[in-house]
Amino acid sequence: MTDAPPDDSTATPVRPDDTTTTATTARPEAGVCPVTGARARAVRGPRSFPLSNPVISTVAYAADPPGYSLRAQRDHGTVVRLPILPHNPTVQLSAPDGIRRVLQVNADNYARGAYYEAFELFMGRGLLTLEDRDWRAHRKAVNPAFTPQAIADRAGQSDEAIAALLDRWAAHARTGEPFDLFPEAMKLTCRVLGMALVGKDLSQDGGEFAEAVSVALEAIFKNVGSVDKAIPSFVPTPYRRRVARARRTLERVVAQAARDVDNGAGGEVATLIRAADLPDDALWSDLVTLFLAGVETTALALTWTLYEIARHGEVRDTLAEETDRVLGGRPPTAGDLDRLTYTAMVVDESLRAHPPVWQFTREAIEDDVLSGHHVPAGTPLLVSVYGAHHNPEQWDEPERFDPERFRPGGSPARDRSAYLPFGGGRRQCIGKRMGLALLQQTVAAVAGRFRISPAQGAVRGGAFITLFPKGGIRVTIQERAR
Ligand code: HEM
Repeated sequence: MTDAPPDDSTATPVRPDDTTTTATTARPEAGVCPVTGARARAVRGPRSFPLSNPVISTVAYAADPPGYSLRAQRDHGTVVRLPILPHNPTVQLSAPDGIRRVLQVNADNYARGAYYEAFELFMGRGLLTLEDRDWRAHRKAVNPAFTPQAIADRAGQSDEAIAALLDRWAAHARTGEPFDLFPEAMKLTCRVLGMALVGKDLSQDGGEFAEAVSVALEAIFKNVGSVDKAIPSFVPTPYRRRVARARRTLERVVAQAARDVDNGAGGEVATLIRAADLPDDALWSDLVTLFLAGVETTALALTWTLYEIARHGEVRDTLAEETDRVLGGRPPTAGDLDRLTYTAMVVDESLRAHPPVWQFTREAIEDDVLSGHHVPAGTPLLVSVYGAHHNPEQWDEPERFDPERFRPGGSPARDRSAYLPFGGGRRQCIGKRMGLALLQQTVAAVAGRFRISPAQGAVRGGAFITLFPKGGIRVTIQERAR
């Protein structure tokens, strides 16, 4: 098996200068570093009460997952043992060399693992949940819809969706009333991804589809670690009724997509899946995976980016200057993105500060050594994107929002694997290029036309699978005088 996904140039290659590649095939002796032969340390974690207790630790984790995660990194380092349920102990990894080893250098040694079983609740066995040997055919089937050419061919769909957003926002500008960014961002992504995946604008059902996506992601996370499991499964709690409703909505959308393909009027991705030699349930698994992996993540990235622009006057002014200079007052198109350098820097920095997928998981098949720490076979891992992006060893003042970190041609001292909003290696996000293009174009369109200001105090972050603003983010906008 090679390291790159089939025909996919979005995957990160192993760095040519990566000296650790020589260790790919060697099975390390337990406790000995495969690269240097030095003895490896045991992974440390909280050793004293209360956080050494798995129940207390799990409650602390559930109350503020990213906060808990950063505290563990600060107190015990970038490879740390978390005593959390249901998979105790779990190793949290935010060391860039360790991340590179898991995702690229020694990727064959890492399975999806126990945490991913909960994803099958909605995503079945498809693009995200399958182990590498079965996954290839799925990725190969849908890949033609994610090439640069395919994305360029669908550019008109993004243009129309962004124009509709600007029209709605012109009304907000007229009234001056505050509004929440997140539902607006979800309308955009439900429309654009709906068109690409199933040939339908999925923002036209009064928010039912958007709600189904968010509820499904929450349900997957809670199945991983929730107290909900303690309530007998036959009790129809309000939460369970919401989950059942979300499933019915997704079933309706997938059934319609199947009928459309059969009638020769299917969406691009649905048609590709049906034409491929894949199991019968692939249409459900792969479409729901793409909905759940793409819609809310991209909407959250847009929400957090516009929030940071609203909070930072100098960023807002620099963006406005760039859009005026490059676009001269017209709306941006996909062809303008290469020249909207500062816009891309702002999006990149937002994905660093608020990575929508803030962690993801793997499981060691055999013993390995990660960043000098011995990781026994069977260990569940949380690859902490959030931890890597807020690691003070790699990022100067990680809590500061500073797009200059991403200025092209700058020569940052950080390790490349310290930045991974879309994951890495052969399982890197298939929607990276599409998501980034939509984000950059929308940010340029909004920042060029409106002056955006915060309409609330501090925003509280929450986290399930994704990192979201609790209670949304309210802003006001004004038309810019140009
Ligand atoms: C800002 C937006 C997005 C972020 C931050 C994001 C993040 C990620 C990350 C971190 C992974 C790797 C998970 C792992 O290795 O376990 C991933 C995988 C994936 N993403 Fe995205 N994603 C975004 C947008 C999208 C879009 C727009 C789509 C599709 C329309 C998509 C579809 C997928 C799929 C199918 C996978 C699994 C890939 C595989 O294993 O082959 N994502 N994403």
